[in-house]
Amino acid sequence: MALDIDFVRRQFPAFQEPSLQGQAFFENAGGSYTCGQVIDRLTRYYTQRKVQPYAPYEASRLAGAEMDEARQRIAALMGVESDELSFGPSTTQNTYVLAQAFRQFLQPGEAIIVTNQDHEANTGPWRRLADEGIEVREWEIDPQTGHLDPIRLEALLDDKVRLVCFPHCSNVVGEINPVTEITALSHAAGAFVCVDGVSYAPHGLPNVGDLGPDIYLFSAYKTFGPHQGVMVMRRELGALLPNQGHFFNADCLYKRFTPAGPDHAQVAASAGMADYFDALCDHHSGPSEGATARGAFVHDLMRAHEVELLQPLLDAVKERNDLRLLGPSEAARRAPTVALALNRPALEVAAELANFGIMAGGGDFYAGRALKAMGVDPDQGVLRVSFTHYTCKGEVDKLINALDQVL
Ligand SMILES: Cc1ncc(COP(=O)(O)O)c(C=O)c1O
Repeated sequence: MALDIDFVRRQFPAFQEPSLQGQAFFENAGGSYTCGQVIDRLTRYYTQRKVQPYAPYEASRLAGAEMDEARQRIAALMGVESDELSFGPSTTQNTYVLAQAFRQFLQPGEAIIVTNQDHEANTGPWRRLADEGIEVREWEIDPQTGHLDPIRLEALLDDKVRLVCFPHCSNVVGEINPVTEITALSHAAGAFVCVDGVSYAPHGLPNVGDLGPDIYLFSAYKTFGPHQGVMVMRRELGALLPNQGHFFNADCLYKRFTPAGPDHAQVAASAGMADYFDALCDHHSGPSEGATARGAFVHDLMRAHEVELLQPLLDAVKERNDLRLLGPSEAARRAPTVALALNRPALEVAAELANFGIMAGGGDFYAGRALKAMGVDPDQGVLRVSFTHYTCKGEVDKLINALDQVL
């Protein structure tokens, strides 16, 4: 079944907002529009439930219940237990806390593997473990294609490696990495796995239970939700790593790696993401039961629409000799996060695109290591055009036309 794009766009108030009319949004990898279900819950929380949650009076009971609901429903969609999912201020902060836990957990002489394809959030905090005598090995991308080859990983794995960190999909290369295969290789070598899913999750929540990593991170504010980081921590690893929260919360898995007090309203409003996915599933006559089956249906629905819109964009840029497309030119292999290296500063070109009603960004997108490894000057940066399932064909046509004008 094809995605009903009119239905989809009705769920996002930004598409009805007068000041945004005529503006085609192509900086979704930076942060998506927010669905109405999330905005409604946020408003309701602030107007009706803005009290200390989990106390024995009605407004407080409702506040706490809604926070629990958010955790339970998103965890169910992702195929994990509800206490294996927690919220933190951002993915960067969540990774930082995890790195502190591993700092205490690992012994000098043990090793971790990081990539140079990642956003800095899933590489910098891990690399700092070198200060504690942890050996940091870099799994390098191919300088031409940006591809992370699992064969290269195999050569880095041995019995000293305790953790492998990599992105489900890079925010500049766009290629979808084979998480199941990489996880299996790492686990076979006795290493845990931490996946940055920030650039993948907006294109369909994955079933983390099936994929297999021990940690999976994404950012709700790029996935139609409020400004929160979401972290899946599988039970076995969560019990081994030292508690980073208050000592009296040590027995509660979803509190062990979130030392900051949670943003109650935003956690509660995150349940609106599940409302939205459910609405999509029901509207398109998806399975009526089973959260993971419903999540998979929505994932595939979004993905099919995105792949269909993405291929013409890739075709329009891949043969041009005035730019370099980073990552694969086949839509099925990548997310619709398209970085283009140009022969002038990317921000300048993004500003010119704004004159054509295109909202896009230019820069290094905190992926300077990947750009450098591919021979792209991070100061000049890349033009990044990124979209999600709520983008329509007319907007992609408009982008292709605008690119023709400014390049
Ligand atoms: C791939 C990727 N990972 C991690 C992050 C960091 O996420 P947050 O802003 O929630 O810290 C970003 C943000 O742009 C990203 O694109």
